Formats: sequence, C-alpha cells, structure tokens
Amino acid sequence: MRLLITGSSGQIGTNLALRALAEGHQVWGLDSRPNGWCADIPTIRHDLREQHRPLREVLAEPLAQGRLDCVVHLAAHAKVHELVLQPERALENIATLFPVLEFCREQQLPLVFGSSREVYADIQRTIATNQTREEQADFAFTASPYSASKIAGEALIYSYAHCYDLPYLVFRFSNVYGRYDNDLERMERVIPLFIDLIRRDQEVTVFGEDKILDFTYVDDCVSGVLSGIEGLVRGQLRDHTINLAYGAGNSLVQMAQYIAEALGKPLRMRIQPSQRGEVTHYVADIARAHELLGYAPQVPLAEGIRRTVAWVVEWGERQRN
Ligand SMILES: NC(=O)c1ccc[n+]([C@@H]2O[C@H](COP(=O)([O-])OP(=O)(O)OC[C@H]3O[C@@H](n4cnc5c(N)ncnc54)[C@H](O)[C@@H]3O)[C@@H](O)[C@H]2O)c1
Repeated sequence: MRLLITGSSGQIGTNLALRALAEGHQVWGLDSRPNGWCADIPTIRHDLREQHRPLREVLAEPLAQGRLDCVVHLAAHAKVHELVLQPERALENIATLFPVLEFCREQQLPLVFGSSREVYADIQRTIATNQTREEQADFAFTASPYSASKIAGEALIYSYAHCYDLPYLVFRFSNVYGRYDNDLERMERVIPLFIDLIRRDQEVTVFGEDKILDFTYVDDCVSGVLSGIEGLVRGQLRDHTINLAYGAGNSLVQMAQYIAEALGKPLRMRIQPSQRGEVTHYVADIARAHELLGYAPQVPLAEGIRRTVAWVVEWGERQRN
C-alpha cells in the first residue's frame, strides 16, 4: 500500500509509519516538525495551518510516483489540558483537517482519522456504565476544547462521507503509550513524565486518586490501525467509528506503581484533585474493533510499562554513547 500519514513525527505516527515500512508498505509522512527519533520515515515538512497551497501541490513528489491508497490523519494538538489553556489550538485542530479532507475528496482517497475517547466526555461519571460503546457518544455535551475539536473533526468526516461518498474509518484512541513518546519538552504525557520523575527519585503528582483510564500499548494501537487501513484499502471495510484501546481500566496510582517496580525505585506520590476538562473514568468497549478488525490487544498495562521503561532506559543510554 502507498500511505500518507500526517503527524508522522509524533508518537503514534512514528510507530505506525515504522511498522508499515517494516511490513513493506510505501509511506510518506507529513509533519510541521522533523522526526526527532529516527530518519527512516520520508517526511514532507508542511504545516497544515498554511492553506494557501493545496495539498496536491505540497505532495507533488509522492503523487508523481503514483496514486496513494489511503491518508491517515494524525496531526493535531493532542494535549487535553493544554487546549483548556489555549482553546485557539482546538480550532486549529479542526481547521487543519479541512485541507486533508479536501485532498481526499479530490483524489478519491479513503481517510483514517485519529479521534479520541475524549468525545465521550466523562460519560461513566454521569451514566452507570462499565464499558463505553461507540454509540454512547453524546455530541450535545463536551468537556473540553480538545474534545470539541475531535467531535467537530468526526462530524466533518461524517458530512464528507454523506455528501461526497468519502470512505473513512474513525479510531477513538485512549492513552496510547510506549516507544517514541519521551520528548517531554514538547509533550508532557503522564506515563513518560512519571518514568522521568521516578527515575530521578522525584515525587509524582497524581491528579485524581480514583481516576480510571484505559491505557493502550502503542503496538496494539498500531496493529488495530493497520488492520483497519488494509480493510479500507481493499474495500472490505468503510465508514466505521471504532474504539481502539486495551479494554480494561487501571488507576493512575496503579500505573505509577508499575513504573516504580519496573525501575526498581521507591514511589513518592502526591494526590491532587483531577484537573478541569479531564476524563476521570473511561474503559472502552472494544467489541466492535474485535468484530470488524479481528483486534485482540496483547499487552496489558504491567507488561506495557515494563517494555516502555526498558525502551526509555535504552534510548537514554544510546543518546549518551
Ligand atoms: N496518544 C494518545 O494517547 C492519543 C489519544 C487519543 C487521541 N490521540 C490522537 O491521535 C493523534 C496522534 O497522537 P500522538 O499521540 O501521536 O500526538 P503527537 O503530538 O505525538 O503527534 C502529533 C503530530 O502532529 C504534528 N502536527 C500538529 N499540528 C500540525 C500541523 N498544523 N501541521 C503538520 N503537523 C502538525 C505535530 O508536530 C506532531 O508531530 C492525534 O490526533 C491525537 O489527538 C492520541
């Protein structure tokens, strides 16, 4: 397959692009930044906010080599709390999807979109439900500007499917962690942050003692996305919205304990209330992913944390040598 992945210098984009390349697919990345982890992903440097040139021109080089099969749109400002502080970046998330949609419409390409469990807001707080099913999204309420940007993104895609027959898959990810996620100066995500702090014998702050989240090891996430791309490109699958997560809940406290164990360090922890706009309880119902993609996540949190810690330690050693 010939794939274009936007946001290819980010966590999921890097993992997805490398896996697709390893499986023999042709991949072009598109990102406003170079990839800080590896030089193996051919990357077109472009900021999707700059819309004076259509993507067909930006992508002249890959297009000169032949037709693409699919676009995977992962580029976004992906940090919930950051967008509470800077809501204009949520608007950018919506605006930067537009040229991608127009490119897909023009080139008649299917689109895969990286959405989020944030579209559900804090559903399990308000409705007694153990696991969240896709149809439980209620777009009349939203918890944060980031969540609004994903709801708006999904809505635009559904409208393109309806009006222009655009084939799509929307994946709702949940706390993806693992390799290529340790650029803390750019993006402070909870697992790499805790690894960094616990490693340096610093105290960690848990926002929400009873917060339960569905942590997804990146290899599971990437396996699900690739199965979806294959089905979409072959024409066997289209127009589905799919939860892609591990399908089990873990507290942040438990997660921090796993990290401390993996590092062989004591855990010093401070508990604070959850921050505004945050989801405090989410476990995905992944039956649809299983049914449509044969998705069966392999890596529970304790094992995923061991692998992530090992990667971070090895990465640090490689940088020092
Ligand atoms: N990682 C998760 O846990 C998670 C959970 C739910 C949803 N998502 C969604 O999945 C997608 C990928 O997430 P990620 O964790 O890899 O994020 P990330 O921040 O690591 O990567 C996003 C990439 O998009 C690029 N980008 C942002 N704005 C751009 C623009 N205007 N033009 C070009 N490139 C731009 C960034 O430079 C970055 O490399 C995002 O849309 C995110 O919202 C991620």
